[in-house]
Amino acid sequence: MSESGYIRGLLDKEKSSTDISKRIAKVSTTIKAWPDEKFPPAEYIQNIGCSDKQHFKNSSVNQFKELVQRFRVADDWKILDMGCGCGRMAVPFSEYLGAKGQYIGFDVWPDGIEWCHENIRKDFQFKILHAANNYYYEDQRSFKKNNFSLSFIERQTVDLVFAISVFSHLKKEDAQIYLAEISKILKFRMYAYITCFIIDEYFFEYQRGTGTFSEVLEEEHGCYYGYQKQDFFAGFSLENLKEWITNSGLELVFYELGTWAEKPGSREFQDLLIIRKK
Ligand SMILES: C[S@@+](CC[C@H](N)C(=O)[O-])C[C@H]1O[C@@H](n2cnc3c(N)ncnc32)[C@H](O)[C@@H]1O
Repeated sequence: MSESGYIRGLLDKEKSSTDISKRIAKVSTTIKAWPDEKFPPAEYIQNIGCSDKQHFKNSSVNQFKELVQRFRVADDWKILDMGCGCGRMAVPFSEYLGAKGQYIGFDVWPDGIEWCHENIRKDFQFKILHAANNYYYEDQRSFKKNNFSLSFIERQTVDLVFAISVFSHLKKEDAQIYLAEISKILKFRMYAYITCFIIDEYFFEYQRGTGTFSEVLEEEHGCYYGYQKQDFFAGFSLENLKEWITNSGLELVFYELGTWAEKPGSREFQDLLIIRKK
C-alpha cells in the first residue's frame, strides 16, 4: 500500500528532526566537555544573570537547542545575536556553524564584547554599540536619547535574529529603533526571536497576589518600567508591541507566555515573540 501525503510528511519531519537532534547533541556534548577556563569569568557570567559556569553552560546549550529546533537553523546561515553579552549563544554556535555560516553579535557592554572577541572564533563578528543612555548600567533616570543603527549589517541578508533578555531592558524608543533595524536586515520571510516582558492581565494578577514587581509602573501608555538596582525592567502591552512590529514592516506570527509572572501554560522564563519579515 502506498503512503499517503500526510504520512510521508510526518516521516520527512521525523527524519529531519532526527538529523537536527544529532547535530545538537554533538554540540551539546562538546560544550559540556569544555574546561571552565574556556568560559567567561564569573563576574561576567553573573552580569548576564547566570549564577555560575554550570548554569551558563546549561542555559547556553538549552537556548541553543530551542533556536536550532524551532527554526531548523542550517550551518551556513547568517545569524544576528542582539545584546549578545559575554557570548552565551556565541559559544554553542561557534561549534555549530560551518565555514560558510556567519555570526554577528553586538552589545552596549564593552567588556563582554571584548571577551567574546578574544575568546570566540575569529571569523565571528562582535561589535560594541555606543549607548548615549545606557540605563542597563548607568543612571537609570537619564533622558538622553539613544541612536542605535545596525547599518554595519548589509540589508536583507540575515536568516535569523535573536534578542534574548534584551527587550526586557529597553525603553520604548530603543525597542522601536531595534524593530525597525531588524526589518531592514532580515531576509524576506525570515524570523526574529525576541524574549521580553508582556504586560497583561496575568502580570497584574501576579503583581497583586505576590507583591513582586511592585516598583514597576506605567510611565506612558502601555510602557511599564521598574528602576531597581542594575536590572532595569521594561515591559510593554501586547497592543504596543504589535503596533511597533507592524509599523516596522514585520508581522507577529506567534507569541508564548513566560513563567516570570506565573503565566498559564508557560515553559520558558520570559515571554516570547516570533516575528517574520513581510
Ligand atoms: C540579561 S543579559 C542577556 C545577554 C545575552 N542576550 C544572553 O542571553 O546571554 C542582557 C544584555 O543586554 C545588553 N543590553 C542592554 N541594553 C542594550 C542595548 N540597548 N542594546 C544592546 N544590548 C543591550 C546588556 O549589556 C546585556 O549583555
